[in-house]
Amino acid sequence: MALNNVRLLTILFNSCFHFLRQAVASGYKMTAVVFSPSKNVMNVDEVQRKGYAIANTPTRLVLRSPHNAEETYLQNVAGVPMRVLSTSTFFEQKWLVTRVDATAVCPTPEAVAFTPEVITWYMPKHIDPLFSSDAFTMLEVYMGIDAKRLDTEEMAARNYSVLVTEAHIIVEIPVGAVGGYFKSHIQDDQYFVTYTIEPMLELLWIEEVAHENTSYKVLFPITTPPMARPPQVRNYTPLDTVPEQAVFVLELGTFNLDVELLNITFPTMVLTVAECNARGFNVQEQRSPDNTLKTFRMEVPFSDPVVFKERRAEQGVTTFTLQLIYGLVIFPEYAPFSHSAVVDAVLLDIGMPLVTGNCDQENFHITVDYRNQEPFFVVLVGKRLLNHEFAQQYLTEGDTDFTITLPFSSPDAVFESVHSSSVRSRLDVALLNPYNNMTIKYFSLACSFLKTLTECFSNGTMTALAVKVESAPGLNPGQLTLSDPACGPTYSDDRFAYFHFTVNSCGTTRKFINNVMLYENEISLPDELEVKLNATTSSEEEYQ
Ligand SMILES: *[C@@H]1O[C@H](CO)[C@@H](O)[C@H](O)[C@H]1NC(C)=O
Ligand SMILES: *[C@@H]1O[C@H](CO)[C@@H](O)[C@H](O)[C@H]1NC(C)=O
Ligand SMILES: *[C@@H]1O[C@H](CO)[C@@H](O)[C@H](O)[C@H]1NC(C)=O
Ligand SMILES: *[C@@H]1O[C@H](CO)[C@@H](O)[C@H](O)[C@H]1NC(C)=O
Ligand SMILES: *[C@@H]1O[C@H](CO)[C@@H](O)[C@H](O)[C@H]1NC(C)=O
Ligand SMILES: *[C@@H]1O[C@H](CO)[C@@H](O)[C@H](O)[C@H]1NC(C)=O
Repeated sequence: MALNNVRLLTILFNSCFHFLRQAVASGYKMTAVVFSPSKNVMNVDEVQRKGYAIANTPTRLVLRSPHNAEETYLQNVAGVPMRVLSTSTFFEQKWLVTRVDATAVCPTPEAVAFTPEVITWYMPKHIDPLFSSDAFTMLEVYMGIDAKRLDTEEMAARNYSVLVTEAHIIVEIPVGAVGGYFKSHIQDDQYFVTYTIEPMLELLWIEEVAHENTSYKVLFPITTPPMARPPQVRNYTPLDTVPEQAVFVLELGTFNLDVELLNITFPTMVLTVAECNARGFNVQEQRSPDNTLKTFRMEVPFSDPVVFKERRAEQGVTTFTLQLIYGLVIFPEYAPFSHSAVVDAVLLDIGMPLVTGNCDQENFHITVDYRNQEPFFVVLVGKRLLNHEFAQQYLTEGDTDFTITLPFSSPDAVFESVHSSSVRSRLDVALLNPYNNMTIKYFSLACSFLKTLTECFSNGTMTALAVKVESAPGLNPGQLTLSDPACGPTYSDDRFAYFHFTVNSCGTTRKFINNVMLYENEISLPDELEVKLNATTSSEEEYQ
């Protein structure tokens, strides 16, 4: 923190160099300092006892002052409060006395505005106490970090900006930019971070009257106010499992890198991180991709005694509860803090239900064996929840199982593909935990059903059924036509199109093959739609 309170104050007037060189060369010694505006006179010893450092080289007078030293004062310069130290230093040689006036001006914390995203430092351009007149030209403005000047590319890469306006030089630094650092803090057991950076400004101006260059360099450590970063426990516990294999997966974060996890307090015991790992909790520190933040991840098996279990038999579920207090510290000052959390999970008491299935010529049969336990899950058939009406129509119950029987053409099934004499249809069934809708078990059954999709009648008419397949979800069966685009379906809905036509119409062609007459027609989308939907069904008809 020393950097925040002490500033190096150097004033380099060219004329002084010349004077100092001569003075020191001719044996002048620094004897006293007079501070303005108090007019307090101190000899060099007193000055040093008061906490100032003063020294000279042949070309420089260096005076170092605590930032808030008694002899400094506040002055408002172009609306920005600046701290000023104004001195006259006396040099003596025998009977001769001469003096060097020197003034230092530093920004104060009030010169900075903060938002959660950006630090803005306002520096007056005409730093009044350092000027003897109003007319001047700013020759150079450089920004740097940690006393090192940066070029334009480096500034852009770090998203720093310097804007020179009529009255100010405005430095903007994004909170978190390269060059600064975050530090963790605890206040009332709450977690905060601050961001600190030490920008530098180097100015060079020329005063028109004196025609003298003045260079000014200031290093200005800036720390943002504490920003609250309340940690959170994220729960990644997978629940599609049986209690014997279940684990709580928790992640605590997000922290700055100076935070360490020491121990975890459970209702029955305190375990160090090493003890947690010995117990199989696999505590891991995880870093963000840019390596600036960390979280702590761990896995606690439901079967561990630190997990509290409560069975609710009437509901057929068990609740698992993990209560914990993370014990953390901030380095290097070793400031302790804690974060407590309670997480729970509801698991069904059943073992994993067994789902099997088969098909006959018309139907799917899917059997769910819930193994002597209450079947405490909800069943999703296709996209539909199995409710009472659905159950009445399609469900038969056994002792420890039930069977769902659905026709292959049910809207809950999907057609995977269609061939001239068969249809491949699939039924998806999922068992869900009603407490969180997570999938306990997923089962899918696909079968080919032998189906005559086309028929011929002795009076010379034909029928054909086209079905929508899963791979053509955008298909509107009502838009299908026979070879003659004027022949649309006699009936259609969102899944089927039914055609009924005579063999001498609608573009039907005729072939003789070994005493058999073969009529062919094709069902497709009109050309302009076909490209988009890519679904065609062809039918071949045989008359004997
Ligand atoms: C600079 O700012 C841009 C836009 O705000 C941002 O996308 C980029 O990540 C920043 N670069 C750095 C180094 O912070
Ligand atoms: C002031 O500094 C500028 C830039 O460094 C230089 O070109 C110029 O000669 C200097 N003028 C005087 C009077 O020292
Ligand atoms: C647990 O860690 C905290 C740091 O937050 C520490 O203060 C405390 O003493 C530790 N407890 C035990 C029992 O080690
Ligand atoms: C599960 O999903 C159903 C239907 O989407 C919804 O009504 C119900 O609220 C959900 N239940 C939970 C616990 O999220
Ligand atoms: C031809 O026979 C079928 C089946 O018997 C019948 O549905 C259809 O209406 C008949 N068509 C004509 C034009 O008589
Ligand atoms: C059209 O469908 C066929 C058969 O499903 C498939 O192989 C082909 O990739 C599809 N073409 C386009 C452009 O989607």
